[in-house]
Amino acid sequence: MPPVKVPSIKVTPPGPRAREVIQRDAKYLATTTKTSPIVAKRAEGSVVEDVDGNTYIDFSSGIAVLNVGHSHPKVVEAVRKQAGELAHFAGTDFYYDIQTRLAERLSRIAPGKNAKKVFFANSGTEANEAAIKIARWHTRRGMFLAFLGAFHGRTMGALALTASRRVQRERFFPMMPGAVHVPYAYCYRCPYQLKYPSCDLYCANIIEDLYMKSVAPPADTAGIFVEPVQGEGGYVVPPPGWLSRVAKIAKDNDLLLIADEVQTGFGRTGKMFAVEHEGVVPDILTVAKALGGGLPIAAAVYDAALDFEVSGAHSNTFGGNPVACASAMATLDVIDGERLVANSERLGKRMAARLDEMKEKYDLIGDHRGLGLMRVTEFVSDPKTKRPDAKARAAILKDMYEHGVIALPCGDSGIRYIPPLNIPEELLDTGLDIVDACIGRAAT
Ligand SMILES: Cc1ncc(COP(=O)(O)O)c(C=O)c1O
Repeated sequence: MPPVKVPSIKVTPPGPRAREVIQRDAKYLATTTKTSPIVAKRAEGSVVEDVDGNTYIDFSSGIAVLNVGHSHPKVVEAVRKQAGELAHFAGTDFYYDIQTRLAERLSRIAPGKNAKKVFFANSGTEANEAAIKIARWHTRRGMFLAFLGAFHGRTMGALALTASRRVQRERFFPMMPGAVHVPYAYCYRCPYQLKYPSCDLYCANIIEDLYMKSVAPPADTAGIFVEPVQGEGGYVVPPPGWLSRVAKIAKDNDLLLIADEVQTGFGRTGKMFAVEHEGVVPDILTVAKALGGGLPIAAAVYDAALDFEVSGAHSNTFGGNPVACASAMATLDVIDGERLVANSERLGKRMAARLDEMKEKYDLIGDHRGLGLMRVTEFVSDPKTKRPDAKARAAILKDMYEHGVIALPCGDSGIRYIPPLNIPEELLDTGLDIVDACIGRAAT
C-alpha cells in the first residue's frame, strides 16, 4: 500500500463507488449482519482503504481475526509459497507435514501439560460442532450446559448453545436438543442483583446447587460450554474466580469443560488464551478467527484421552487445508516474534485508561470493561436505570466511520474496540481521539 494519510475521509462513506457495490451486494448476497457501509479495496496493518480512496483506522480486525494486522508480509509470503507448492490434499484422509506441525504447535501452546489432539475445521462454529461431538462420543451423554448471552455459532448444534439474541434463533426451532442455559457472570447487570465479592459467585454456584439438581443431571450432561469472556453477548468479563469455580464444578461432577476461545484466543485478552487469566485448563479448547491470520482455519484442541477411537466418527474435507495451515504457522510466528501477547496487555492498558476517562466524562457510557485489546463501552440512556441505548450506539458507530474509525457493535448497546495487536501507538491514540469526539457529540 503506498504511503497514505490515516485516517483520511475524502468523501463521506458510502461514496459513489461504495454505493454501487452495496447496491449489487443487496441484490445478490444473502442478508447477514452488515453493520457499516465500508467497501474495502485493500488493507495493510491497522489501516483499511475503501473503494473511494478513504482510509480508516481499523478497530474491528475483521471481527477479531487480524490480530497480526491486515496482510502481514510474513503471512502473505507463507500463503504464496504454500499455494504454489500444495494447495489442497484433504488432510483428514491423507498426510502432509504442515498440518502435523501446526497440530503439534497448537497442542504445545494450548493450556495444560496433558497430551492433546487436534481436529481442524474451517470456522469457529465448526470447531464447536466438533467439540460437541467429541464430548458426546466420549461421555455418551447428550446434554450440555451453556450460558445466556453466549455465542458459539449458527449451525443447529452450535446454535442450540448460542443464546445471545432472539433473531439468531427465531424460526429455527428445533435445534440440537439438550442445551440448558444458565445466566452468565454479568456483574454490571447482575441477574440476581448481587454484588461481587459478597455474592460469593452465586452465579457459578447455582450451576451445581440448582441446575444440576433439576434440569441438567450430571449423569446426562456431557459438558459445560463457556466463553472465558463473553463475545457477541457484550464483551462481558466475569469477576475473578468465576471461571475457576465453573471449572471446579465441572470437574467435581465429571463434566467436560469446553472453553470457546474463538474470539478471545491468540493474545486478544493479553494472554495467549483467556483461560490463562484464571489458570484453568479446559478439556476441549476451540479456536478459529485469529489463528489463520485472515484465512479460514479453526480447531478443537482436546485432551488426547477424549479422541474418537474409530475411523469415520468425525471428519471433513477442508479442515487443516495446507494454505490455511501455512498461514496459521506464519501468524503464530508473528505473534511470538513481535511479542504480540505482551503488546496486547500493554496497549490494552493504554486503551483502558482512555476509555475509563471517557466513562468519567460521559454519562452515556454506562460501563467500560475488557481485557487486553478486547474492550467495550456500553451505552445507556441513564446511568441509574442502565437502560441500553442502542440508538446512541448506532449514531456513534456511524460518526466513527465517517471520521475514519471502523468498529463493530456488541451486546445490546456496546461498541467493541479490537484493533490488531500490533497497531502503532500513534494510530491507537488517534483512533481513540476520534472515538472520544464522536461520543462527545452524541452526549450533547
Ligand atoms: C466465541 C465465538 N464462538 C464461535 C463463533 C463462531 O465462529 P464463526 O463465525 O467463525 O463460525 C464466534 C463468532 O463470532 C465467536 O465469537
